[in-house]
Amino acid sequence: MIDPWAQTEIDDYSKVMKEFGIERFDPSTLPSEPNPPRLFRKNIVFGQRGFNTILGRIRSGGDFAILSGLMPSGRMHLGHKMVIDQIKYLQNFNPSVFIAVADIEAYATRGMPLKKARTLAIESYVKSYLGLGLNVDKLEIYFQSKRSDVKDIAYLAGTKVNLSTMKAIYGFNDSTNMAHMHSPLIQAGDILHPQVRLGPIPVVVPVGVDQDPHIRLCRDLASSFRMFNATVTSDGKVGVFVKVDDNVESLLSKARSALERLGYLDFNMVPRYKALYLPGASPSDVPIMDEALALVEKDEGGFGFIPPSSTYHRFINGITGEKMSSSKPETAIFLDDEPAEGAKKLKKAVTGGRDTAEEQREKGGRPDICAVFNTMMYHLVQGDEEIDRIREECLQGTRLCGSCKKEACQYLEEFLNDFIEIRGQREHLVREIVKWD
Ligand code: TRP
Ligand code: SF4
Repeated sequence: MIDPWAQTEIDDYSKVMKEFGIERFDPSTLPSEPNPPRLFRKNIVFGQRGFNTILGRIRSGGDFAILSGLMPSGRMHLGHKMVIDQIKYLQNFNPSVFIAVADIEAYATRGMPLKKARTLAIESYVKSYLGLGLNVDKLEIYFQSKRSDVKDIAYLAGTKVNLSTMKAIYGFNDSTNMAHMHSPLIQAGDILHPQVRLGPIPVVVPVGVDQDPHIRLCRDLASSFRMFNATVTSDGKVGVFVKVDDNVESLLSKARSALERLGYLDFNMVPRYKALYLPGASPSDVPIMDEALALVEKDEGGFGFIPPSSTYHRFINGITGEKMSSSKPETAIFLDDEPAEGAKKLKKAVTGGRDTAEEQREKGGRPDICAVFNTMMYHLVQGDEEIDRIREECLQGTRLCGSCKKEACQYLEEFLNDFIEIRGQREHLVREIVKWD
């Protein structure tokens, strides 16, 4: 079990992937232009569920959406920036972007007043997003407590899941308060509501693996709402099954028409099994068939939710070597740190250096476990040649930690100064992107 509220530290990602059935994220499936950021190329984004639906849209230039959410807590640090960097990259492919301020979740699980969540979200998160250069086209930031689509879906989703499942996923017990128990359904409401606004559409949720329980629950809920199930049967046949009891024959023939429009010719309809088999279809066609069927459902008055997909990033250790956390200010560089103060923290960071300069010249340093190197790699040094050179110099022992840190601190100060400047220039956009319903 992963407890999404517990600040868990994961040290074996491949074990988590195996245990929960997360698929590998293969960066070579992304288009080569524009060059994906290092987060993708270097496997910081290591896993995914259902991301092929998004890849399909990226390749075809079709519509998709990104849904992200934040629990307003403390200040935003470089760890939080990673999600924004992913969204910025995906914005190259023109998605609609929704960002939820999880004020209901913060109220239910941490007792944070809604008003406080509101100010925190705008002052420290929304303004930081602008400073980090998030594109404001097709972007909206909303509050869970203000959006009735979200709360309505959450309520309806409650009919699709029972207490014992919620206990098994989250470890809830008899003293868990009801609002806390309901908050994963609110998050499912977040993740599913773009499809109420835009119709059935692939949605991707970039998260840390601690959020995977919510993703699993939400994907199951999305399927529970469906009228059709396009699947591969145990004996290898591709088929569409009607999951409701009314109008079965009419639904089957509507499914057939929709699939005919996709180019399928061969059908075997068996109303007795509520089934429509497609002898000519292959298992890899299922997601495309599913998208067509979702549209039929929408016409029939259903939601037609396409199961949302997700990507998972690992957490890069903070400058002290443990996970970056807002509650431990010494572990993190905050975006609103005074640039000089941020640099001072980085100067104290743990490195992959050796005990003495002599030893380092002889054996070389260990950039891959060095917080200074990782900060440069993921946040400060854009050029590939430059970062490769730094790494090589470190490995060869020609680069020593003192001067290396000095260089990194200089980059950090520049970065934080630029951030402040851009945030100032773009602050007025808050009104455009923050929605009040
Ligand atoms: N639960 C998330 C957190 O603790 C916040 C959140 C709410 C969220 N709704 C979301 C994250 C939807 C991703 C998608 O940070
Ligand atoms: Fe890290 Fe730089 Fe020292 Fe190498 S030389 S271990 S990259 S601080």
